[in-house]
Amino acid sequence: MSSEVIAREVKRRRTFAIISHPDAGKSTMTEALALHARMISEAGAVHGKGGRRSTVSDWMEMEKARGISVSSTALQFSYSPGDADAADAPNVINLVDTPGHSDFSEDTYRVLTAVDAAVMLIDAAKGLEPQTLKLFQVCRHRGIPVITVVNKWDRPGRTPLELIDEISERIGLIPTPLYVPVGIAGDYRGLLDRRTGDYIHFERTAGGAKIAPEELLTADQAAEREGDAWVAAREESELLAELGQDHDQEMFLAGQTSPMIFTSAMLNFGVRQLLDALVEFAPPPRGRESIDGVERAVTDPFSAVVFKVQAGMDTSHRDRLAYMRIVSGEFERGMVVTHAQTGKPFATKYAQAVFGRDRSTVDTAFPGDVVGLVNAMALAPGDTLYIDPRIQYPPIPSFAPEHFSSLRVTTADKYKQFRKAVDQMDAEGVVQVLRNDVRGDASPVLAAVGPMQFEVVTARIKAEFNVDTIIEPLGYSLARRTDEQSAPELNRQRGVEVFTRSDGAILALFSDKWRLQYIEKEHPDLLLEPLVAAA
Ligand code: G4P
Repeated sequence: MSSEVIAREVKRRRTFAIISHPDAGKSTMTEALALHARMISEAGAVHGKGGRRSTVSDWMEMEKARGISVSSTALQFSYSPGDADAADAPNVINLVDTPGHSDFSEDTYRVLTAVDAAVMLIDAAKGLEPQTLKLFQVCRHRGIPVITVVNKWDRPGRTPLELIDEISERIGLIPTPLYVPVGIAGDYRGLLDRRTGDYIHFERTAGGAKIAPEELLTADQAAEREGDAWVAAREESELLAELGQDHDQEMFLAGQTSPMIFTSAMLNFGVRQLLDALVEFAPPPRGRESIDGVERAVTDPFSAVVFKVQAGMDTSHRDRLAYMRIVSGEFERGMVVTHAQTGKPFATKYAQAVFGRDRSTVDTAFPGDVVGLVNAMALAPGDTLYIDPRIQYPPIPSFAPEHFSSLRVTTADKYKQFRKAVDQMDAEGVVQVLRNDVRGDASPVLAAVGPMQFEVVTARIKAEFNVDTIIEPLGYSLARRTDEQSAPELNRQRGVEVFTRSDGAILALFSDKWRLQYIEKEHPDLLLEPLVAAA
C-alpha cells in the first residue's frame, strides 16, 4: 500500500473518547452520534436505559446488574460534515468508549492513551462533577485536546456564562463556544453560529428518535422569530468575542482552550455540530516516539499499541481479546506481526471490530483505528506490535493504587487453578499483584485504584476458573516505590509492609499518609518514590 493512500486514510480519521461523570448522557450521546452517522435509523424508541443498554457494552453480569459500563470498546463510523462535497471521501470516526465508574479510572486512563482528542460531556444543571475533573486531568497530563459539550440543554440548568466561568476558574481551560444556545437551559430552540452569525433552528422529533430537522435563518430572520432569546444570545456572543473567547486552533491543540457546544443528546440537538467540530478541529492520528526516542511516522510500516486486554466476553470458551490502536501503516487481517515484548510472531487471523456484543471482522485498518485481537493470550496493556523495522513504544504508566486486599483460595486443592487465575488478572492489568515471603504465594495482595476492581477479580475467577476466593481489605492506603536496601528497615516499621510487584518493582505500603510522612522524616535515607499517577 502506498504511503499516499495511508496518508489519505489518516487525514480523514478522527479518534476520540467521551469523558464524563456517570449520568451526564454519554450513552445517549453515543447513540445520537450513531444516528447522525446513519449507523442506526432510530435512537432507542424511548431514550431509556433498558432499550439503549444493549447498544453499549454489557458483557458482564455485574455490569448489567449495576448499569455501568466496565469494559472499553470502540465504535467506528463514517461521517461527512454537513456542507461537505458529496464526492469527498467521508470521514472515519473512531469513538472509544470509556468506563464511566470512577473505580475503573485505570482502565479509562489506558483508553485515553489510544485517542487523539476527548469530548468532555457535562450536564447543564450540574456543571463540572468529580469524575469529569479527574478525567480532564488525565487529558491535560497526556496533552489531549478537549472539546466541551454542555448536554441536557433541554432541561433547566445554569447559564452559559456561569458554566464558562466554572470551567475557566476550576480547571484553567478557556471555553471558546463555537455556538451560543438560543433559549435558556430548559427552552432550547437552536444555536447562534458564532462564526457566521446565522441561526440554526432545531425541530423536535417524536421521542427524539430521529435526527432533528434544522432550519438555517439569517440574523434578521432569527431576531424576528425568537425575539429576546436571540438578542440575549447575540449579547453573549459579543461579550465572549470581547473577552477573546473565540476559537483558536493552536491554543486548542495546545490544551489551553476548548471549543464548546451546547447539546441535547436526547432531542438530537447540536449533535451534528459536535460531529462537524470533531472533523474540523480534532487532530488526525499522528506518529509516535519509540521508547528510545525514534519517531515512527503514520506512513511507516505497521505498528500498534495494545491499550486494553479483556477476557470472558464469551463464556463458551476462554476468550481473551486485546484491543490495539494502530499507530502506523496499514493493518491487514491475517498479517503476522511481531510482539515487541517477546520477539514472538503473532498471527492476526481473528482481527475484529468490537462494540459491545457486536463483533465484525476487520480486513484492513489504518492509523487511529482500534482493532480487537482474539485469543491474544500473550498480549498485555502497553505492548507493541509491529512489522519490521522493530519498534517498541513506551509502556503505559500504571495508576498509583489506593486500595489493597489479600486474596485467598477457599479450597486447597484448587490452588493451581487459583495461581493461574491470579496470573491472568495480573497480565490483563485488571489489578496489580503484590507478593512477599511472609504471606507466601497462596495469599497475594491485590492493589487497585478502586475497590470495585476486586469484585471483578473474584467474580471472574469464579466464572472463568471455577475457583472460590475470599478477599479481605488490608489497612493500607498508599504505596511508594522503594529498593532492596531500604526494604528491611521499612519492614521493621509499624503500619508498613514491603512487597514485590509482578513486574519486579518493590513497593512499600503505608497505613496512611501521616505514617509515611513520619517515616520520611525519621529515615531520610530510605528510598520512597511516589508511583506514577495519572494526574
Ligand atoms: P451516561 O451514559 O453518561 O451514564 O448517561 P445516559 O446516557 O445513560 O443518560 C443518563 C440519563 O440522562 C438518562 O435518563 C438519559 O435519558 C438522560 N439524558 C441524556 N441526555 C439527555 C439530554 O440531552 N436531555 C435530557 N433531558 N436527558 C438526557 P434516565 O432517567 O437515567 O433514564 P431514562 O429514564 O431516560 O431511561
